[in-house]
Amino acid sequence: MDNQALPFRKLGNSDVSISALGLGCWQFSKGNGMVGKFWPSMKQEDINEIIKICYEGGINWFDTAEAYGKGQSEEALGDALNELGAEDALVATKWWPLLRTAKNIPRTIDQRLQALKGRKIDLYQVHQPYSFSSAEKEMNAMADLLEEGKIGHAGVSNFNAASMRKAHEALQKRGFQLSSNQVKYSLLDRRIEENGILEAAREIGATIIAYSPLEQGILSGKFHRQPELLKNLSGPRKHFSQFKGKALAKSLPLIDLLEKLGEEYGVKPGQVALNWLIRYHGDTVVAIPGASKLRHAKENIGTLRFSLSDAHMEEIDAMSKKVTKG
Ligand SMILES: NC(=O)c1ccc[n+]([C@@H]2O[C@H](COP(=O)([O-])OP(=O)(O)OC[C@H]3O[C@@H](n4cnc5c(N)ncnc54)[C@H](OP(=O)(O)O)[C@@H]3O)[C@@H](O)[C@H]2O)c1
Repeated sequence: MDNQALPFRKLGNSDVSISALGLGCWQFSKGNGMVGKFWPSMKQEDINEIIKICYEGGINWFDTAEAYGKGQSEEALGDALNELGAEDALVATKWWPLLRTAKNIPRTIDQRLQALKGRKIDLYQVHQPYSFSSAEKEMNAMADLLEEGKIGHAGVSNFNAASMRKAHEALQKRGFQLSSNQVKYSLLDRRIEENGILEAAREIGATIIAYSPLEQGILSGKFHRQPELLKNLSGPRKHFSQFKGKALAKSLPLIDLLEKLGEEYGVKPGQVALNWLIRYHGDTVVAIPGASKLRHAKENIGTLRFSLSDAHMEEIDAMSKKVTKG
């Protein structure tokens, strides 16, 4: 592995510098609430350690949400950053829109700030597009918070290209910009390249925040090489089609390639997958792998310290397209 400078990106059109990898904090939901039950509950000591490893390894921002354990993940993150004294670490969280109107955004912002234990909200995202209010109304509520200084930047998540543009226009009318769209994107899920989301992000100048960038662990190769791990999966993943034998057989040639290149660079297959993701589209895409073990965090930050050659980037691109489309 060569020792390169850590890649940093601007968040949207702002002056804020974010590391090309952030840490996804859904795993820190402590088994609370419907969304939080996806992952097994983790001890706060382990969460503290993972956040420390990431922060000291060059990650300067952390993505959480109200829905992750009904605030438990936000609290765990706030506690860990405060204990670490990581004053300069940036926090992205999300408002949950389902069965709510935009009026709920100002109504609940103080709860979010409280859950974060006094940390600032550097990026506030609308978690998904399903809501009783329009994107315009939601962005107007976000603009109010921006004017009051309660949040640093506004973003969305799981919005399609048309809704992204509407959100951006609404913010622009108030003198702000849409900073980001957080969407599912990995070597095994290239839909944003074809459905206009990536194009809209480039046009607007918004950052794409890639979630599930390791396809929830599949791109580490562990489920291909140790299929017995599939039996131990405790959450909904065991029912997901991509974790079934047929899908794993289809993605195997990609895992083989990631492993082969990993050997050349002295890194792990998951690191190759993440490295591709944060470089292939220039500065537009950043990624937020989650970690439930210390070794994941250690491994994932290693992604920031090497670069794949152009030829290898193209080879991975071609294989990824082959296994996702073929
Ligand atoms: N906006 C949204 O709607 C949305 C949706 C999903 C996720 N997200 C965000 O994106 C973040 C990441 O997405 P994700 O958690 O769905 O998927 P991911 O980052 O692709 O996968 C994380 C999981 O992969 C495994 N893993 C991670 N690093 C590994 C390594 N180095 N070696 C082996 N296995 C490794 C772990 O699984 P095990 O725990 O089983 O070991 C970990 O829990 C979340 O934490 C959340 O912040 C947002």
